[in-house]
Amino acid sequence: MSKTTWIKTIEVLSGKKLDATINIRGWIYRTRSSGNIVFMTIRDITGVLQATVKKGNLPDNEFEDAKKALIESSIELKGTIKEDKRAPGGYELQVTNIHVVNFAEPFPIVKDQSPEFLLDQRHLWIRSRKLASILKIRSTLVGAIHQFFRERGFYEFDAPILQPSQCEGGSTLFEVKYYNDKTYLSQSWQLYAEAGIFSLEKIYNMGPTFRAEKSKTSRHLSEFWMAEMEAAWMDLYDIVEIGKDEIRFILKQVLKNNKNELELLNQDYNKLKQISESDFPTITYTEALKILNEKENMNIKWGKDLRTLEENKLADHFKTPVVVTHYPVEIMAFYKPRDKKDPKTALCFDMIAPEGYGEIIGGSQRSLDIKDMTERLEAMGEKVENYEWYFDLRKFGSVPHAGYGLGVERTVAWICGIDNIKDTIPFPRTLLRFRP
Ligand code: 4AD
Ligand code: MG
Repeated sequence: MSKTTWIKTIEVLSGKKLDATINIRGWIYRTRSSGNIVFMTIRDITGVLQATVKKGNLPDNEFEDAKKALIESSIELKGTIKEDKRAPGGYELQVTNIHVVNFAEPFPIVKDQSPEFLLDQRHLWIRSRKLASILKIRSTLVGAIHQFFRERGFYEFDAPILQPSQCEGGSTLFEVKYYNDKTYLSQSWQLYAEAGIFSLEKIYNMGPTFRAEKSKTSRHLSEFWMAEMEAAWMDLYDIVEIGKDEIRFILKQVLKNNKNELELLNQDYNKLKQISESDFPTITYTEALKILNEKENMNIKWGKDLRTLEENKLADHFKTPVVVTHYPVEIMAFYKPRDKKDPKTALCFDMIAPEGYGEIIGGSQRSLDIKDMTERLEAMGEKVENYEWYFDLRKFGSVPHAGYGLGVERTVAWICGIDNIKDTIPFPRTLLRFRP
């Protein structure tokens, strides 16, 4: 194929190369014809460019093709670059050749369609500039997480997706037929990571995670990606600091790589920059209740979990993410240990994003107390024999250790400033949807 120019680089080239002949390729984003002229906007992954197709400047059959081609037709163009202050980017292409690679049928997506319709048309909608911008930011975030952990000496470690038992409560397990038996889709990498640290000490992973969430919210997906870390010889306070560093690192990478995308999404660059350079506060659950009950006039009893409403009210008191530690043991997963200094609380934390984006990280130190974990699993009605292998890890050179999981989609939603978590993943799966 002929050598083509990315639309974004035209602005850079043009200063020197005005009137140069270039080839571009992409898709028709907008098109309008009047008489002997067709005005098109062409998009490629880097941007949009105005192209003017004038009868007489190109072979007649090509001009007819240009007139016929509907939006989303794929297209190759040749022409000269001219300055045009009114055009997006400040330049336009005056077309001398056009090759329609595929004449698109009438595109089903037009302006102002319902979210449900757009989800039905997801395979086509992901090419929208909004979704493409979010997906670029997601890609930066994923790359940043790998870089963050690798630079700090963590190894990537994989756990099975098919797992015999729960990690985060039986009620959200997805069951899978496994030959003549049954198994479940992973709710977390964690339990296997706790085996992995005795081999690799500091490990991380980013992988698909499944939860049969029975409620429809703008924060929950049935299939999402979690970025988890686990490390030997670390305690709660060590990993809280790593979590804060990770978020700041992600923000800095997005600010460096995705200025255009943030602008397209109307996200405030300077606000994010400030957060990326800030310290994030750490408070206890008990202190959080004090804020809610005294400053927000709520009446939350000690022992109740913080729901979306409470998390949002709490977040209103902070400009940055806030870490909340020491939740009541009773409402925590079986592996979260009691704090010996205050045994009704657990050595655990959540990081809550600003502006109502909710919990983006959850983690804890890990219990080393087989008896306590056995009792808590039994109380949940779990088959304790499924966890024998996990208890072995406490019998053969056990060490203090801790880890956390970051919700990729919630973090992307917060950074992009978008309402719904569904738009942070190409093909969302929710209570009501697993198609297309
Ligand atoms: O707080 P969670 O449930 O923690 C765990 O699963 C631990 N085993 C992780 C660990 O310690 N290795 O989930 C971690 C994060 C949450 O803070 C949230 O951001 C995200 O995963 N998350 C979801 N994101 C989208 N949809 C859902 N249904 C989610 N459930 C949790
Ligand atoms: Mg949690």
